[in-house]
Amino acid sequence: MVNRAEPIPFSRPFTGNEEEEAVIRVLRSGWLTTGKETLAFESEFGAFVKTPCLAVNSATSGLHLALEACGIGPGDLVLVPSYTFTSTAEVARYLGAEAVFVDVAPGTFHLDPVKLEATLEKLPPGKAKAVIPVHYGGLPCYMEAVLSIAEKYRLKVIEDAAHSFPSPLPPGPRVPAGSFAGAAGDAGVFSFYATKTITTGEGGMIASGNPDMIKRMSVMRSHGIDRSVWNRYTDTKASWYYEVTAPGFKYNIPDILSAIGRVQLSRVMRFLAMRQDIASMYDRAFTGDEHFTIPPSGPGDARHLYPLRLNPERLSITRNEFIEKLQEQGIGVSVHFIPLHTMPYYKKRYKLKDEDFPESLSSFRRVISLPIWPGMTDAQVERVITVVKELGFAYTIL
Ligand SMILES: Cc1ncc(COP(=O)(O)O)c(C=O)c1O
Repeated sequence: MVNRAEPIPFSRPFTGNEEEEAVIRVLRSGWLTTGKETLAFESEFGAFVKTPCLAVNSATSGLHLALEACGIGPGDLVLVPSYTFTSTAEVARYLGAEAVFVDVAPGTFHLDPVKLEATLEKLPPGKAKAVIPVHYGGLPCYMEAVLSIAEKYRLKVIEDAAHSFPSPLPPGPRVPAGSFAGAAGDAGVFSFYATKTITTGEGGMIASGNPDMIKRMSVMRSHGIDRSVWNRYTDTKASWYYEVTAPGFKYNIPDILSAIGRVQLSRVMRFLAMRQDIASMYDRAFTGDEHFTIPPSGPGDARHLYPLRLNPERLSITRNEFIEKLQEQGIGVSVHFIPLHTMPYYKKRYKLKDEDFPESLSSFRRVISLPIWPGMTDAQVERVITVVKELGFAYTIL
């Protein structure tokens, strides 16, 4: 039984003996940095998403490498949703390119294909070079529409799949989120940050069906050096010799983390089932409750987040006050996302106005991400439901 006073965290990683043993195995092996564990992690993850993969130290690094490998540079325009984390947009700035923000579609958290095309129509011809759709919260976004617009305007497509592993697997109804654009030749990027659906603490994976991109990203992941450290120490050629072919980055993931990632990957379908069970309990509890709107979802969705919308016309307290009340009761929650067009840096740089992003703003003002993590007990989920529903009842507008 869960003590009613015991706090329920917003997120908690699920790790156990196998992860601990994997770390010890690597520590004892004498090889801590990127090596054979990382190669195995890449190949196992690649088999899962059916696309060649490269492991990196974060999804942010992966997005940066992918844009760089697409040839994005100063003055290029990269289209991104406003409703996302700053990584999605900041990587364009790393390369001297400019982010162009697009609102999300009504009732969803996803880049609106109609607004995407309308925005593209207004941009100087030939300046838009890439689009980064985001599979928000593990809910796959409108990839077919985005891909067809990208084809029309000759845009590279980098899927931000930071939230969306594991996506539906064949024979599921869709191509796996994150390997949709990747398999078509560009790239998809996953995150293994501590709160994500599988975790290495920090880490990421890039999927790409384009061998030239894989080659470029692999070199740029490691200072622009033409040989990986593992290759230098295991190859029969001289171990000390290498060439710097470009000013690259230091984005490799150490074997200690890859070993954890391999164990997490092997458990992913169990984690998925646990997240889906929690989401179903929330869906059942909040469906038909006039104070709330449940998130859209489809079969197999990764359910990284459970973004519950408050219905302000039925509640006499604001979203922020609602969060305070939940926190007073020991329930950890979060908000995904504070739209980027409201962030001081982007707002000032691009002179962005709220009226151009009505859906992002409306979602932001209503949404609360409820706790959802493998290992959360039914009693904990029920307690969240009870507290949320009681608050709805206590602050109802009659
Ligand atoms: C939508 C989105 N993209 C990218 C990232 C960056 O992931 P990472 O922390 O692995 O760099 C995040 C992080 O939470 C995210 O929410």
